Amino acid sequence: MVKIGFVGCGGIAQEHLKHLRTMQEVKIVGACDTNAARAKAFAAGAGGEVHADPVSLYDKARPDAVYVTVPPFAHGAIEEEAAARGIHLFVEKPVALDAATAARVSGAIKRAGILSCAGYCYRYCDTIDTARALLKGKAVSLVHGAWIGGLPPTPWWRRRGQSGGQILEQTTHLFDLIRYLCGPVQEVHAMASRGCMSRVEGFDVDDSSVVALRLKTGAVASVTSTCIINHPGRTQLEIVTPELTLTICGGTVRVEEDHRVTEYRSECDMYAEENRAFIDAVRTGKKGGIRSSYADAVKTLLVTCAANESAETGMPVKL
Ligand SMILES: NC(=O)c1ccc[n+]([C@@H]2O[C@H](COP(=O)([O-])OP(=O)(O)OC[C@H]3O[C@@H](n4cnc5c(N)ncnc54)[C@H](O)[C@@H]3O)[C@@H](O)[C@H]2O)c1
Repeated sequence: MVKIGFVGCGGIAQEHLKHLRTMQEVKIVGACDTNAARAKAFAAGAGGEVHADPVSLYDKARPDAVYVTVPPFAHGAIEEEAAARGIHLFVEKPVALDAATAARVSGAIKRAGILSCAGYCYRYCDTIDTARALLKGKAVSLVHGAWIGGLPPTPWWRRRGQSGGQILEQTTHLFDLIRYLCGPVQEVHAMASRGCMSRVEGFDVDDSSVVALRLKTGAVASVTSTCIINHPGRTQLEIVTPELTLTICGGTVRVEEDHRVTEYRSECDMYAEENRAFIDAVRTGKKGGIRSSYADAVKTLLVTCAANESAETGMPVKL
């Protein structure tokens, strides 16, 4: 039996729970949330006891692994206390609000020798496997990503001190896919705009941003983000090589080469695959199926921190 605890019982915790409940070898042993009513409702559906704080959850319910599904500002001690007790960690993206917290947690994970998995769920999509296979051995020249969306409803999202803003919290998925598919980032230069969302109380993140990146291979990339639209949005990543252009849109990958267009549609649920990979790793002790470790997720965090810094200072940031 794999005993699981949850710290943070909001939207994404419910998504993970949906998949964990299909696994007979998993037992939810406890949950906690600073919103006690939410923890209670979660535990009523998941099983296990409600705990006042993570330490009580760790020491009384003694989970093998914990899902840390809290907003960006809440990471740090939750993971360090788990690592100190040898409890394996699933940590939602972004793994922290800042590089210093992430470095501290990274050190604790390394010292404890525990398994870690970050919630970069797109990496588990079957069509991303297809994209990786198609790009193998090809020289990427240009990447263009776009996250065009509206304001997410969670109250912490619009506060820079709590979410880190759209680049760090949301478009992080695209920065992570660029790293995963095209390799490491070397330099970042960003600009951002504000002023269109002044009617929204407490809104102090950027409205829109443009990030230019130089990859270690020499390729160039641009990633644009906005959270101001009032209609259905889209996310897209276009990767250009001399042989083919590959466009990832939702779960679909479109490949254009010569005069041919081929479309691959996803046949998997990326959250199901991600949870399966983590639970199998905890059960067997073999981490081969985990596609985004905490340490790797920190590298994506550093790209987004660099973009935020560059947007503020107006200067390029080298990684
Ligand atoms: N991988 C994905 O596709 C995906 C999708 C959605 C959200 N997320 C990430 O998951 C995280 C949570 O997002 P959400 O949509 O579930 O938010 P949410 O607001 O719905 O849930 C977060 C929960 O954490 C609780 N919380 C806050 N601080 C806490 C603390 N110190 N200790 C315990 N609980 C605490 C809140 O009360 C809330 O119930 C975010 O970082 C977000 O980026 C990832």
